[in-house]
Amino acid sequence: MNIKTVILAAGKGTRMKSETPKVLHEIFGKTLLGYVLDSVKSFSDEAFVIVGHKADDVQKYIEKNYTFARTVLQNPQLGTGHAVSFVCPMLENYNGLVLITCGDTPLLKEETLKNFIDEHIKSGADVTVMSTIFENPFGYGRILRSNNGTVERIVEEKDADNTQKAVKEVNAGIYCLNWQKVKNAFSELKSSNAQGEYYLTDIIEWANKKGLKVCASVLADSNEIYGINSRSNLATATEIMNRRKLNELMDNGVTIVDPNTTWISQDTEIGADTIVYPSTYIEGENNIIGKNCKIGPFAHLRGNVKIADNVKIGNFVEVKNSTINEHTNACHLSYIGDSDLGKNINIGAGTITANYNPLTKVKSRTVLKDNVKIGSNSVLVAPVTIEESANVGAGSVITKNIEPNALALTRAPMKIVENWVK
Ligand code: UD1
Ligand code: CA
Repeated sequence: MNIKTVILAAGKGTRMKSETPKVLHEIFGKTLLGYVLDSVKSFSDEAFVIVGHKADDVQKYIEKNYTFARTVLQNPQLGTGHAVSFVCPMLENYNGLVLITCGDTPLLKEETLKNFIDEHIKSGADVTVMSTIFENPFGYGRILRSNNGTVERIVEEKDADNTQKAVKEVNAGIYCLNWQKVKNAFSELKSSNAQGEYYLTDIIEWANKKGLKVCASVLADSNEIYGINSRSNLATATEIMNRRKLNELMDNGVTIVDPNTTWISQDTEIGADTIVYPSTYIEGENNIIGKNCKIGPFAHLRGNVKIADNVKIGNFVEVKNSTINEHTNACHLSYIGDSDLGKNINIGAGTITANYNPLTKVKSRTVLKDNVKIGSNSVLVAPVTIEESANVGAGSVITKNIEPNALALTRAPMKIVENWVK
């Protein structure tokens, strides 16, 4: 599919009480906007992110991380319809579908968006709006349908009368448009409403007046459109996302001993029969953990962690940007960062990879070949390579490469002073 996506993200996010723009707040180390962009990138060749508040920060983030997206400045912010009007000049001759979504709804799944677009295409609609049913619809726009069920218009909470407020079908804020048929709406919207804003929702009534086909697609799991407005919302969304992931992993044969204290990011794959012990935190992207591993309790994996089958990562072990091969164990109190570990390695308790030079700000790799044994409380100062089957004695600080089968020791020889106490 060749779809353009518009992501609304110019709002201030006042309730976050933050110096950081709302859409750059993070869940599991990934921004809210990142979740939204990732959910559309498989079917969208171009995304326009409407920015206003702290626009520069959002622009820098996008330039660094998402080449298919670009920011469009909306200043001042006069409403959601006004926001979309800023892409009109760029899409003047575009003859395809436009998906409109929000930058602060990180729980919406790629699959849901694809189904939504499919439904739009199959129904032959010119405008499809996503709706959902809320027992407590307060604050949302309500979907007003005619007696025969067709969608007539959307009324905002602040403009609704009591009968309209009783409607439980709400506007999820996601739309699919046949662009050429609908693009003129954006220059014809009026701001004569309670908030004095140009409402995107008014395109529904506009399209009906033009004789276009309007549909609403009802989303079954209303959790997916959960929006972030406050720190408390952020915590709730993290919880929902986490539960979703833990359930998926358990369905695929992973044991999660205590789902209440285990946190695993969406971008983490775990093989069957791996056991994740309590108080484990796995954040960031591109984590792949094999089968039959034991992770935790109290393990912290921070992204780009590739762990093969039958590996043990025990308590108070932190791993970042590293690969670890089969039957390697790091059972207690270690930091493994920017490292490549072979098979059958034992990392003694308290081993630390010193991967970062704070003077040069350079991070370097630590490479351990198969069958290496590292004695407890050792520091491996990167860049460093320890060849196959070499051993490091406990309490060593390793600053040079070590040959295969060698023993490296840097501790001072032990001294015994007899009768010292007397
Ligand atoms: C909007 C819908 C409402 C729907 C709800 C779903 C309108 C008029 N109302 O209401 O029917 O139920 O979303 O969550 O569209 N934004 C801009 N520029 C602006 C104003 C807003 O980019 O000038 C962005 C915001 O950053 C936000 C999104 O648009 O990401 C929605 O704006 P918001 O003010 O939160 O809309 P709601 O009042 O929640
Ligand atoms: Ca509003």
